[in-house]
Amino acid sequence: MEKTFLMVKPDGVQRGLIGTIMARFEKKGFQLIGAKLMQLTMEQAEHHYAEHVSRPFYGELVEFITSGPVFGMVWMGDEVVAHSRAMMGKTNPLEAAPGTIRSDYAMHKGINIIHGSDSPEAAEREIHHFFKPEELVTYKRCL
Ligand code: CMP
Repeated sequence: MEKTFLMVKPDGVQRGLIGTIMARFEKKGFQLIGAKLMQLTMEQAEHHYAEHVSRPFYGELVEFITSGPVFGMVWMGDEVVAHSRAMMGKTNPLEAAPGTIRSDYAMHKGINIIHGSDSPEAAEREIHHFFKPEELVTYKRCL
């Protein structure tokens, strides 16, 4: 079953949106297999955003993601990577479709509430980076 890594960014945590965001994924039907509040170190942030190192906004990105607690989650389900990206909406909230998380709760493309893995391969890397295997649960049966 496919997995993804989602992270409520510092703006979403400070605005009290963790529960609202989790409810959207629960209601969609995905299963939560891991979650934790984290204060990212500079090293974790630089590792997570390594592919953006040459972008002009890289400094802001790392500064923002380390500016306060984030809430990391691992969700599981059929095509959860593509579904969760559709539910998040485009990076720029102005271009995100109405009803998506970024359209509903964000204004700025750098301060946009949530991160989600962009492929199943990225999800595996990001889950491994932020979670130990023993921090993830398994469900014996679906209720
Ligand atoms: P995220 O999914 O966390 O991964 C990369 C992040 O870079 C993205 O979300 C945006 O928040 C951020 N980003 C992309 N473009 C810009 C930009 N032009 N200015 C500031 N931040 C950006």
